[in-house]
Amino acid sequence: MVHPAPGSRPRNASLATRLGQSSVAARLEDEMRLTAAELADSVAQARLRVAAARYKVEDEVRNTAGKLKTRVRKAADEARAKFGDDARFLKSWIDSPGRTGAVAPSSPFLAKRMASYVDPLVEGPVVEIGPGTGPVTEALIARGIDESRLVLVEFAPEFCELLRGRFPRATIVEGDAYALSKTLQGHLGEKASAVVSSLPLFNRPPAERSALVNDAFDNVLQPGAPFIQFTYAMVSPITRKGSGLKSQVSDWVLRNIPPARVWVYRRSKP
Ligand SMILES: C[S@@+](CC[C@H](N)C(=O)[O-])C[C@H]1O[C@@H](n2cnc3c(N)ncnc32)[C@H](O)[C@@H]1O
Repeated sequence: MVHPAPGSRPRNASLATRLGQSSVAARLEDEMRLTAAELADSVAQARLRVAAARYKVEDEVRNTAGKLKTRVRKAADEARAKFGDDARFLKSWIDSPGRTGAVAPSSPFLAKRMASYVDPLVEGPVVEIGPGTGPVTEALIARGIDESRLVLVEFAPEFCELLRGRFPRATIVEGDAYALSKTLQGHLGEKASAVVSSLPLFNRPPAERSALVNDAFDNVLQPGAPFIQFTYAMVSPITRKGSGLKSQVSDWVLRNIPPARVWVYRRSKP
């Protein structure tokens, strides 16, 4: 054990001891201790605040990055779907221009105009013929027609497969819409409240077009129900003279390539 030299003070003696235990020295030491503790406390609090702020910033960055990623992914999915539909359509047109009848799917504006002529409150199935990739189908659903009420008649197997994936509660009938009532045999529980057609009618002779519409009114539609058809042509795709049909036509839907109009036919005497 090493003893301090006589007259010297131990190195680790407190300040108070070194100052001779005076009460002033003791108070000073207490205050210093207090100040040091407060200082340590403030530093700890500041550290906590910095950590919290950092966490908040990191959290916000994480959130924003997450939201951005979701938006980019959604936009990419939509672009892929749209591009995919355009590409599918174009391929179908190259394979069979007469049957496909257009180089691109209808725009949402034309599809919405078609659907606007269907009254969702009138009960019964809605038959869509020539749905393709489904823009009009989507508009019909947006109009308030439950998917399960839709019966889609499409000739192209690749479109049918796509439609089955997109509208799983709808009835997809792969077949010839020009033989409408025959093709629909076993698929309609009751008469339809509308037929909505995107068929390229002008690629068929007038007699075949009239036969289709007559078949729809005779065998598929409820009395008073409409046959709705869009066309890029200047004239009605259905001969009206002597047909017993009354008709109305929309104005031109310009936001479609090419611009189109919608004809609505009804039996004069249901
Ligand atoms: C002009 S596209 C319209 C597609 C879609 N409704 C749209 O508006 O984008 C015509 C569609 O009718 C289909 N189609 C053509 N002839 C058909 C037939 N005899 N029976 C059923 N579908 C037919 C084509 O495969 C194509 O999907």
